[in-house]
Amino acid sequence: MYVKLNNINFEYVKNNLILDDFSLEIKKGDIAALIGNSGSGKSTILRILSGLETPISGEVIVNDQILFNTKISINPEKRNVGMVFQDYALFPHLSVKKNIYFGLHGKTKDEKDKIVNDVLELVNLKHKINNYPYELSGGEQQRIALARSLATNPDVLLLDEPFSNLDANLKKQIRKELKQIIKKADITCIFVTHDIEDANDIADEIINLKKTS
Ligand SMILES: Nc1ncnc2c1ncn2[C@@H]1O[C@H](COP(=O)(O)OP(=O)(O)O)[C@@H](O)[C@H]1O
Ligand SMILES: [Mg+2]
Repeated sequence: MYVKLNNINFEYVKNNLILDDFSLEIKKGDIAALIGNSGSGKSTILRILSGLETPISGEVIVNDQILFNTKISINPEKRNVGMVFQDYALFPHLSVKKNIYFGLHGKTKDEKDKIVNDVLELVNLKHKINNYPYELSGGEQQRIALARSLATNPDVLLLDEPFSNLDANLKKQIRKELKQIIKKADITCIFVTHDIEDANDIADEIINLKKTS
């Protein structure tokens, strides 16, 4: 399996287990939906995968690389994990191009320009390259945030409630687009939702989280 969480125990506060012996496995290239009630630990799982939170015990493995176990803990910036948060988090004072440039370290200008061009083509927004976030619709901003994550070519892409800021009509359309983009990019993806329709529409596999406390 390409993404593995093995027997993860996690708590924010002592003696209050948020994840109790939690495991999951995801196949390479699959889109997995993580579904569960508010407070069930969905965001926490993504934060553990990206290295923002440290479990008490267990194992995190992506692409055969151990990112965390009892002996090893790889820093978030060394993990090849892309994350798109709920609020898109584009830099408002930077153009689309500069927003995507942002995560691309150690590359020449030509290399960066090629990557920007490629990911904007993928999300169908090449014509917005010089626009600023406030000039884009909610759906467009979301696609730019997605493009920015894809630019670093992550092993796994994590999306935390990517549709929560969109109205119902837009959501349907964006769901379809998102799936097409992710499949075209051929990337393994975990997305969090509390909406079973999102999961049914997009996901190859659904992971249902039961509340432990
Ligand atoms: N920084 C934190 N400190 C303490 N408790 C937290 C923190 N973040 C989240 N929690 C708690 O952990 C549980 C799981 O949170 P979270 O992973 O955000 O759930 P979900 O994303 O499924 O809504 C919740 O009970 C939440 O209140
Ligand atoms: Mg959450």
